[in-house]
Amino acid sequence: MIGILDSGIGGVTVFREILKTIPNGHFIYYSDSLNNPYGDKSKEEILYILDNVVTKLIDMGCLVIVLACNTASSIGVRYLRAKYKKIIFIAIEPAYKMVHDYNPQGKTLVMATRGTIESEKFLELYHKYDNHNTILLSCIGLAELIENNKDVSKYLNELLGKYKDIDNVVLGCTHYPLIKSEIKKVLGDVTFYDGSIGLTKELLRQLNNHNIKYEYEKLEIKFIDSSQNEFKEKRFWQIIK
Ligand code: DGL
Repeated sequence: MIGILDSGIGGVTVFREILKTIPNGHFIYYSDSLNNPYGDKSKEEILYILDNVVTKLIDMGCLVIVLACNTASSIGVRYLRAKYKKIIFIAIEPAYKMVHDYNPQGKTLVMATRGTIESEKFLELYHKYDNHNTILLSCIGLAELIENNKDVSKYLNELLGKYKDIDNVVLGCTHYPLIKSEIKKVLGDVTFYDGSIGLTKELLRQLNNHNIKYEYEKLEIKFIDSSQNEFKEKRFWQIIK
């Protein structure tokens, strides 16, 4: 059983990508909307939350846990790997290396939560591939708007309106792929980079390396939302389709 977790429905953008490669897997998707947003919480709070969610997923039989949340990954994956040694954690990260690989000269905007942008893990990645033409932007409150299906146009106009001639946009929060068209309305025809493709490759590599069965006769998905909000479940099935 593969567990997938996020602070809400953002991780579904990662799950969609995983399903292209593992169409008949057995999955539990854990939407922690009760604690959304993760992005503005302290490190201690996030680790406490992750301990709880990870313990639940392990109790439900997950040996492999996908952190489909950049904030959780940036802040928590090293801690989780050290504490739960038998569990394989697959962690998303902002796809800044893809910019280095595909368009290193391009003017780049990295959009992510404050927690991700300020994390040691992300800053190591950034300094490794720094193209000296990059703006790091903490999008405080944006994931929460997306989570609650609110209109983001005013927010994006105010936040992004001053950025001109952007070529690359790194979607460093798994909620943001859900608003690509709204971002394009403000920034024009930019190229998006998100970490879900790299994460899926890594997931497959780890499953094969550890000889873990991941293909069954039929796809099984169990959806859990920590606030037991029916609306979240409906939205989950709409996005995953
Ligand atoms: N989807 C998340 C991320 O990738 C969480 C955003 C939040 O809860 O603030 O960071």
